[in-house]
Amino acid sequence: MEPARIRSDTDSGKEETAIGSQVPSATAAQLQHPHHVQSTGDNKTKKPTENDGIINGAVAMQRWQILAKALNGKKTNALNLSPVSTRRFTSLGLLKHQPALDGIPIEADVTWHEYICNSGSKEIIINIRLLPKEVSFDSIFGFNNTGNVCIWPSEEVLAYYCLKHRSMFSGKRICELGGGMTCLAGICVAASSSATYVEITDGNENSIKNVRHIVKNNQKRNIFGDTEVYARSLRWNNDLDSFKCPEKFDYILCADCLFFEEARLDLIDTINYLLKPGGEALVFAPTRKNSFNEFLHLASSVFLCSVAERYDDDVWNRHLELQCHNSNIYNKDLHYPVMMLLQKPDDSSNHQIDTLPN
Ligand SMILES: C[S@@+](CC[C@H](N)C(=O)[O-])C[C@H]1O[C@@H](n2cnc3c(N)ncnc32)[C@H](O)[C@@H]1O
Repeated sequence: MEPARIRSDTDSGKEETAIGSQVPSATAAQLQHPHHVQSTGDNKTKKPTENDGIINGAVAMQRWQILAKALNGKKTNALNLSPVSTRRFTSLGLLKHQPALDGIPIEADVTWHEYICNSGSKEIIINIRLLPKEVSFDSIFGFNNTGNVCIWPSEEVLAYYCLKHRSMFSGKRICELGGGMTCLAGICVAASSSATYVEITDGNENSIKNVRHIVKNNQKRNIFGDTEVYARSLRWNNDLDSFKCPEKFDYILCADCLFFEEARLDLIDTINYLLKPGGEALVFAPTRKNSFNEFLHLASSVFLCSVAERYDDDVWNRHLELQCHNSNIYNKDLHYPVMMLLQKPDDSSNHQIDTLPN
């Protein structure tokens, strides 16, 4: 596949403030960071002050209140992270969906949405289970929780792109990494294409439990046809040899996973381990400061890399619309998913790298 080369861009450098930050880490994940919740060494946490050099004081105080509630065993709504949340942008509105009514188990807290997807000759309805937007003790102190907050725009775009290009998955083995609570892209590939095998993964146990509900519901409705679908927990830093897969993958899918600096090399190793020689990883993520380029730089020592900003006219037009009419909540650097293709070479020569402008 030959994506268009990246073109120069003059409007990607908007400054992100702590208040305006809408990166996944602005919610529960930031509370995990030692700079945000400082241990005093006696199992108590130190309340951030107005002088906190890392995050804005008002936001720090709000996070402290959420943490205090969670420590008391109370659940609290992540959307209360205002002013971050009131400016929150989570969807480009590319996929049609609505609350699901039929054939859905009634459960407290969770909601099901039906995604109406075009699979060529017919429309298919994929049921997707969404976890409540709560911050609990577990979500603050457990494994990275960013995939349980919402379906991030990069996952939405990855799913949309895969649906449009579903024929490329015919007869192939696909694995999604870090798919979050829905692994929407992997599920869309399994439902819309003639892939032989789709493995959807995340390192967060709650995400994977939720994905198993989604797989079961859609399997019962025979949405996946002959495609085998499995949901498994996979942490990129774990011993990959214990991740049993009889055959390597033709495609890896990955959305919005480049932000975690400490995990970048592990993610690259994992992609390299799982791909067949000649296989490709489709990675979507916002540029988000320099995180996209930092990952690209590391990846270029292992893969043949290319980057595309205008990979789809509909997505690009939607982006222009948002930039024009919703600039109060939409920030290209934080929200527009750029596409990165990583190809595992058959031999290790001939690497190429295209970088985004700073
Ligand atoms: C920002 S979320 C993106 C989720 C989903 N792809 C989306 O865009 O909606 C990042 C995901 O990476 C997963 N993740 C972070 N570090 C990981 C690691 N070391 N191993 C496996 N998954 C990890 C998190 O659990 C989370 O689901």
